Amino acid sequence: VSATGEPAGDDELVRAQHGEFLTTSTGLRLRDTDHSLKAGPRGPTLLQDHHLREKITHFDHERIPERVVHARGAGAHGVFVGYGTADAVSLAEFLGEGVETPVFVRFSTVLGSRGSADTVRDTRGFATKFYTEQGTFDLVGNNIPVFFIQDGIKFPDVVHAAKPHPDREIPQAQSAHDTFWDFVSLHTEGQHHTMWNMSDRGIPRSYRTMEGFGVHTFRCLNAAGETSLVKFHWKPRLGVHSLVWEEAQLLAGLDPDFHRRDLYDAIESGAHPQWELGVQVFPDVPEQVFEGIDLLDPTKIVPEELAPVQPIGLLTLTANPTNFFAETEQVAFHVGHLVPGIDVTDDPLLQARLFSYVDTQLSRLGGPNFNQIPINRPHAPVNDMLRDGFHQHADHTGVAPYRPNSLDGGCPFHAGSTDGAFTDVPVTVPAASKVRENPASYDDHFSQVRLFWTSMTPVEQEHIVSAYSFELGKCYEQAIKERQLVALANIDDELCSRVAQGLGLPAPERTIEYDEPEPSPALSQVGEIWPTD
Ligand code: HEM
Repeated sequence: VSATGEPAGDDELVRAQHGEFLTTSTGLRLRDTDHSLKAGPRGPTLLQDHHLREKITHFDHERIPERVVHARGAGAHGVFVGYGTADAVSLAEFLGEGVETPVFVRFSTVLGSRGSADTVRDTRGFATKFYTEQGTFDLVGNNIPVFFIQDGIKFPDVVHAAKPHPDREIPQAQSAHDTFWDFVSLHTEGQHHTMWNMSDRGIPRSYRTMEGFGVHTFRCLNAAGETSLVKFHWKPRLGVHSLVWEEAQLLAGLDPDFHRRDLYDAIESGAHPQWELGVQVFPDVPEQVFEGIDLLDPTKIVPEELAPVQPIGLLTLTANPTNFFAETEQVAFHVGHLVPGIDVTDDPLLQARLFSYVDTQLSRLGGPNFNQIPINRPHAPVNDMLRDGFHQHADHTGVAPYRPNSLDGGCPFHAGSTDGAFTDVPVTVPAASKVRENPASYDDHFSQVRLFWTSMTPVEQEHIVSAYSFELGKCYEQAIKERQLVALANIDDELCSRVAQGLGLPAPERTIEYDEPEPSPALSQVGEIWPTD
């Protein structure tokens, strides 16, 4: 990276491995790399052998910590082309008609370690880095539109509950264990996300056939200074497809790299996967509620019947990484990487994420300069005042890393020069006392789960019942199974009694009141699609 932060040229990026001869890291040409320097052919080995020590020392330090979540992933390069249809909503230039922006996408599982199997029942990450000319925009989403918790302060708790048991490190990659079910039956806000996991969405056929969701509501700003609330969606051109459970289990044994291989092979063969980016747009009203749905509650969706997803651009993945570690492992996403025209909201889950990503990357990537790693370098000019630190690669010039100054050519913030700069949308924060509580609208943990359940076809419902029965069946603690059955009764009596039957337990009474759900359109049309006999 140059002192001004200009991206390095391609040849500079790969220079480390150029040259005709094998060398040390300082470029000394080597004669032999297979024999250490010894006092005679039978040794002992001499400490003075710098090449031996450099080779072994570097190897000893090859591993970096895996991500605390989303450790296993696969990435690809591509291009995003805006349709221009978002102009009325956002002034972000990369969404303009025909604007082409390079991207890097990383898909992932959440809970498994780096070496775990791809086809386990889990949420999938869908993180996209747009290298726009206005700076890098990261859309760090999942393949499920809701999240387990309503407030980021519980993120360490839900991850501790969902990761393998601390004593026996079991299970390595699935949701089937006591602590997970203990958590979601006690923190019932997690029931919605859990049912998506228990549905076919929890075992995608391919990364290429997954939807992606920004989950949170964002606030967009247009050129006229008007704001809207927006949810982002990725729609795969290949449609949404899942495995069935037996396929997922067989593949986990036969080919644990199934999704990674599928993505790589498709791109290599020229079958470039595509997703349309779309937005649901809501008026930016002070209460931040749409049709009775709290837009700041990340455990809620807005059904597409109420707010259709409007396409705003096309993503095409065109190239595989040339080095997995350099690109897929070292890429550092952050929900705070925004561009003019897209801003965050006060969703308490999103607010905690704004702190968490850079904090974890400080230790994962060894210090504060990870945005200088080639995969993380912005494609926009960088002129920051960040200096020094571990792994500093920029050769900064000048003496005055502060603004304004009168020594290094003055100040970049000339009067009127804020055109094109990021604008924090001036949102009024109502006068309020400090509290540790949720708004009352966050109390409903079940009605949208019921909506999801009743919108499924009988075959999909059967898969959901089987998944709950299988996964809960792996719990050791009877009390946890019973508590989760109560949560299921609060979603739907029939769902509860079918899972209870699968577990060989009595179906409990619901503990909340709700109206019997209407048969969904999917169910009424089902005879045409799935003959019942
Ligand atoms: C990593 C999505 C909530 C902390 C990731 C990744 C994705 C993701 C896709 C993988 C990034 C990659 O491929 O490198 C989400 C979504 C969330 C959510 C959609 C909720 C809607 C949270 C919350 C926190 C959090 C609430 C913490 C308060 C982390 C951390 C990583 C991570 C620490 C590892 C990042 C790294 O090491 O580079 N998340 N996440 N996430 N997430 Fe989240």
